[in-house]
Amino acid sequence: MSVKPVILIVDDDKNTRDGLQRALQRSYDVRVAESSEAALQILGKESNVDVMLSDLRMPGVDGLGLLRRVHAQHPSTVCILLTAYGSVEIAVEAMKQGAYDFLTKPINLDHLDMLISRAIKSRDMEQKVVSLESQLNEKYGMENITGESIAMKQVFDIIQQTAPTQASVLIQGPSGTGKELVAKAIHRLSTRSKGPFVAVHCAALSASLLESELFGHEKGAFTGAEILRKGRFEMADGGTLFLDEVSEIDPSVQVKLLRVLEERIFERVGGQNSIEVDIRVIAATNRDLREYVAEGKFREDLFFRLNVVDIILPSLKLRDGDISLLVDRFLKEFSEKNGKIFDGITADAVSLLQAYSWPGNVRELRNTIEKMIVLGRGERLTVRDVPANIREASSGYALGSRATVLGGGSLADTEERKIMAVLNKNRGNKTRAALELGISRRTLHRKLREYAVREAE
Ligand SMILES: Nc1ncnc2c1ncn2[C@@H]1O[C@H](COP(=O)(O)OP(=O)(O)OP(=O)(O)O)[C@@H](O)[C@H]1O
Ligand SMILES: [Mg+2]
Repeated sequence: MSVKPVILIVDDDKNTRDGLQRALQRSYDVRVAESSEAALQILGKESNVDVMLSDLRMPGVDGLGLLRRVHAQHPSTVCILLTAYGSVEIAVEAMKQGAYDFLTKPINLDHLDMLISRAIKSRDMEQKVVSLESQLNEKYGMENITGESIAMKQVFDIIQQTAPTQASVLIQGPSGTGKELVAKAIHRLSTRSKGPFVAVHCAALSASLLESELFGHEKGAFTGAEILRKGRFEMADGGTLFLDEVSEIDPSVQVKLLRVLEERIFERVGGQNSIEVDIRVIAATNRDLREYVAEGKFREDLFFRLNVVDIILPSLKLRDGDISLLVDRFLKEFSEKNGKIFDGITADAVSLLQAYSWPGNVRELRNTIEKMIVLGRGERLTVRDVPANIREASSGYALGSRATVLGGGSLADTEERKIMAVLNKNRGNKTRAALELGISRRTLHRKLREYAVREAE
């Protein structure tokens, strides 16, 4: 049995109240009040009133006054006003104060019925949008990025400072470190958050496909182009364009990309008309893009366009203390998702996870916890639930160096952590970072190359 919508009728005239109640009680659960004060009392007690039908002229607080209060205190109740003195001015005023609609007496019951169901539908729709929006905010705001390490705090600072600006952002970091998550957070925290977030994965497409993906094509531009197709630039108008794996863009497309970034206009493939767009670009790469520039694989001018703000995401093993936070977070997420109740994870198991090197970074940790939850049988996750490869890889390490397990890290790790932190603080500017670290730019470059090699291994 479905629950009937609840309607509250407010009128000082008994005949009107009774008449409406009789007409509506078949389809609705009806409440009646003879004054605004009585209506507010009912609304205070019952939170589920869907629609309020209120007379406009009543002694005491009148219909408009009631409307204002209901709108402020019970925003999910839709208000429809009734009056014998229908006039455009009052109607407009009532709508301004938040009334859904307005009916003049004598009331046409068919019309009223239609209005009520339309009002409920539109209210439901509105609530859905609101809840989707808050879900999205949950999903992509900064609260979705877990981390308390120095390195991540610096990343949060940069996100916060950069998000409200229109500056291009280049996010660099090894695979699985959260580059896409950061890009989405910047979008959600920006003035463009109501606009679209459009991602293009540049590595997956050949030069010509990428070109038409980005810029779109006119009908008949090439064989197979049977219809006009809008590109990602057009789709992202008013929002953010996320260019993932930007290092892999073919040089022929790099030139065209540069022009759009400089002039904010472009033409569709096979088209003559210039199209203007308002977009912000965020790019990501797991390569050292400066290296690509030095090797002539990536245009320097394009690099500077993209790299107005530089965010470097450190590999997971360099984020002191974050592993256990992430473990907790993923534990909660996946036990809810799988309907399992876990009484946490043992300290030994966490130590084992902390000692592992996590070449796949946060993504690998997330997948590992999911697997442990799905396969786990006891009430708590223990060392035995840790996948064998991780157990083996990290237990030797753990026995050999207790300090590592406790989060101290080897000397080399400490050095790398320090260097990455200073680099982030200086927004990726290696000259300034080297200065602050007291080493030469060349030494810094050498060290970064060494880390990249270790990362790859
Ligand atoms: N700090 C974090 N807190 C919570 N979840 C995270 C964090 N960083 C990454 N993740 C999760 O890890 C997974 C990988 O993140 P993401 O896709 O953003 O990485 P990426 O750097 O873009 O990787 P790739 O270079 O492989 O594309 C996602 O499921 C993401 O939600
Ligand atoms: Mg990614």
